[in-house]
Amino acid sequence: AAAVVVGQQRSKGGCEKWEKVEEILKVFGEECETSIEKLKSVAEAMVVEMHNGLENEGGSMLKMLISFVDNLPSGDEKGLFYALDLGGTNFRALRIQLGGKEKGVVKVETEEVSIPPHLMTGSSHELFDFIATSLAKFVSSEPEEFRPLPGRKRELGFTFSFPVRQTSIASGTLIKWSKGFNIEDVVGEDIVGELTKSLEKVGLHMRVTALINDTVGTVAKARFSNQDVIAGVILGTGTNAAYLEHVNAIPKWHGVVPKSGKMVINMEWGNFRSSHLPLTEYDQALDAASLNPGEQIFEKIISGMYLGDIVRRVLLKMAEEAEIFGDTVPPKLRIPFILRTPDMSAMHHDSSSDLKVVGKKLKDILEIDNTPLKVRKIAVELCDIVSVRGARLAAAAIFGILRKLGRDTVKDGDKQKSVIALDGGLFEHYAKFRTCMESTLRELLGDEASGTIGIEHSNDGSGIGAALLAASQSQYLGVEES
Ligand code: GLC
Repeated sequence: AAAVVVGQQRSKGGCEKWEKVEEILKVFGEECETSIEKLKSVAEAMVVEMHNGLENEGGSMLKMLISFVDNLPSGDEKGLFYALDLGGTNFRALRIQLGGKEKGVVKVETEEVSIPPHLMTGSSHELFDFIATSLAKFVSSEPEEFRPLPGRKRELGFTFSFPVRQTSIASGTLIKWSKGFNIEDVVGEDIVGELTKSLEKVGLHMRVTALINDTVGTVAKARFSNQDVIAGVILGTGTNAAYLEHVNAIPKWHGVVPKSGKMVINMEWGNFRSSHLPLTEYDQALDAASLNPGEQIFEKIISGMYLGDIVRRVLLKMAEEAEIFGDTVPPKLRIPFILRTPDMSAMHHDSSSDLKVVGKKLKDILEIDNTPLKVRKIAVELCDIVSVRGARLAAAAIFGILRKLGRDTVKDGDKQKSVIALDGGLFEHYAKFRTCMESTLRELLGDEASGTIGIEHSNDGSGIGAALLAASQSQYLGVEES
């Protein structure tokens, strides 16, 4: 309270200033409101778009992409496989040793490299050469006994987490970039072709046997150990989901009917939009300033790349219009993306009575000194509003998938279990986001149906899942080593 008095003494308009702050906060809170009715409308709209997207190519803002994964890893796979995971701020190389039914995943080795930001918006060959070079370095540490036999190539699963129109399980063209990537000369190109060119350049003999989305990898990895898994969801830098659909519910699929009768569909739900979405002026401004205005609207209010920046934008408005940080606007507060979602999460989870962590973050990141407790509390309140909206909308989208599959209610006492596998930094590290998402899903489902739905963390699905799918597509499976 003492801090508040200091604030009020500084300028005559103290009271007025706080009224203005409260007003901005109140309006923002109201606009972000997500009642259960609203969430149900969002889920309903999602189901309609899912049908449209499955009906024909381009039939909906939801691309409902066919993954060509109609057969998930069986567990019999054996041998050494590689995976590449590209889709966020880091890229990873993995080496996995599979030991078949008895031994399962024997060993996983990984190496993570952060992508130099200039490569995210540079040229195609720069990005792919960088990836190939890093992979070659990683491969060079391969144990002697695992060197491929003469005449054989190493096999690689490539997780490329952007919307790709697949032409087979191991080829596909990029539809568009998202999440801060923007390299025009790759759009419309065959991703595996681009990678293969660079691999050849660095003299690495590898064959890409699976090109997948991270959500598809998440399903594959989770399903490897749990047959009840029906969908995989990523809540990370971006957000998206993939799920198992009956081929007879995919009118746009004209290929052969797979033995399993099912196909994994990559929804690309990040591009969902609806008049039911609670959007604010800050979201509109964020979208307008982004690399992909008008696109990925759902992603921009849910995922890790954006949440921190929404908080920053509201704080900036409070600084400009209500002088919440004094009579000058802290210059750092004007820098887009300076407040990252992990920092927002740290502020949100600050349980100290004087909100020490919040004070430190505001000082270290935004160079705002000695913020009064009242201001710190407002910062926490903003983190809460933004994360609750995101978490509740994510739950509504999962509920949409369950509804589409008729698994949102218990029919005739049939307690068939459905498990949703989740992965991504937001889910893993932002505890309040995760618990809010989970409790909202329970709220949407009601008690009885909640009992049949499980949520499971599919740790590193995008990496391990790619290697598993590379293995299940291996040319050498069942071929005796000689
Ligand atoms: C973006 C991409 C999508 C990916 C998701 C999560 O939405 O378009 O392909 O699955 O981010 O990484």
